[in-house]
Amino acid sequence: MTMKTILLTGAAGMVGQNILEHPAINKFNVLAPARKELDLLDGDAVRLYVSERKPDIIIHAAGRVGGIQANIANPVDFLEQNVMLGRNILMAARDLGVSQFLNLASSCMYPREGETPLSEETVLTGELEPTNEGYGLAKIFAMRLGQYINREEKAARFKTLIPCNLYGRHDTFATNTSHLIPAIIAKMHTAKQENQKTVEVWGDGKARREFMYAGDAADGIMRAVVEFETLPEIMNLGLGFDHSVNDYYQTAADILGWEGEFSHDLSKPAGMKQKLVSIERQTAWGWKAKTSLEDGIRHTHAFYSEGFAL
Ligand SMILES: NC(=O)c1ccc[n+]([C@@H]2O[C@H](COP(=O)([O-])OP(=O)(O)OC[C@H]3O[C@@H](n4cnc5c(N)ncnc54)[C@H](OP(=O)(O)O)[C@@H]3O)[C@@H](O)[C@H]2O)c1
Repeated sequence: MTMKTILLTGAAGMVGQNILEHPAINKFNVLAPARKELDLLDGDAVRLYVSERKPDIIIHAAGRVGGIQANIANPVDFLEQNVMLGRNILMAARDLGVSQFLNLASSCMYPREGETPLSEETVLTGELEPTNEGYGLAKIFAMRLGQYINREEKAARFKTLIPCNLYGRHDTFATNTSHLIPAIIAKMHTAKQENQKTVEVWGDGKARREFMYAGDAADGIMRAVVEFETLPEIMNLGLGFDHSVNDYYQTAADILGWEGEFSHDLSKPAGMKQKLVSIERQTAWGWKAKTSLEDGIRHTHAFYSEGFAL
């Protein structure tokens, strides 16, 4: 039997790298162009690439991604670039007959006041969180475009996974651009090395967040590729439980062996109070994440120590 070909966008990113490290990827031919080989903002180049390479499957894991500070500072880029990336790759896939398209969205597309746990049908039922509204809007755009294509074609080639927050190997650890857990790991690593007595937490630390280990997300994504027929058109990829920001700091402190005190800067934005996705569809589909928070932080810190801090 001939191997199917997957085009993985965003292969150099955290999700992309974790997909490439997943054992199931070896059952496919993989096209994993870096940005310099295929700039997804260039619609003509995307169309040419897809028409020449003829992938059977596309996993769209490219995006302009960042934490609160980057989103607040660059709302134009987060909206415009993510819309363009989604538009270019989705329309090329539609026009050139790609048979499976797996789009990665984000829980930032849920209403800020949405009822917890956030279920898939509540997208577009309320205002988004303003700190990452542009990013959320772009994610809604790509998801809806895929649904509209399915509707016009009376087929279901375009499906969207909505992962909760992710962290793990290949994360970005620079504190001004990173997400919560890698930022915590980098801060705690420095605090331990420099024997700092206090570490500052943004806000009161009581906001609750759901973070999945990226290796688990890659496992869910590869199952979605293999079991595409049974995958719902839109499905959250989540844990079904969350922790407070303070819990994440404390767990990282325990694992890294740092024994100082936390201070809270209440003037800094803390984002939504809680963001927990519903795993009802995912559970019915028969998948769940396996890595504990402790193991995830341990593996992620090991990656950070080896790759960046030594
Ligand atoms: N990380 C999370 O917590 C999380 C949670 C939910 C959903 N997601 C979604 O998962 C996907 C991947 O996220 P990630 O965390 O892996 O992000 P990431 O580490 O920032 O990776 C994004 C990748 O997209 C590539 N990219 C951006 N613009 C491009 C362009 N114009 N042409 C070609 N490639 C381009 C980047 O290339 P360069 O390396 O050249 O910059 C990078 O490799 C995104 O759709 C994101 O919304 C992520």
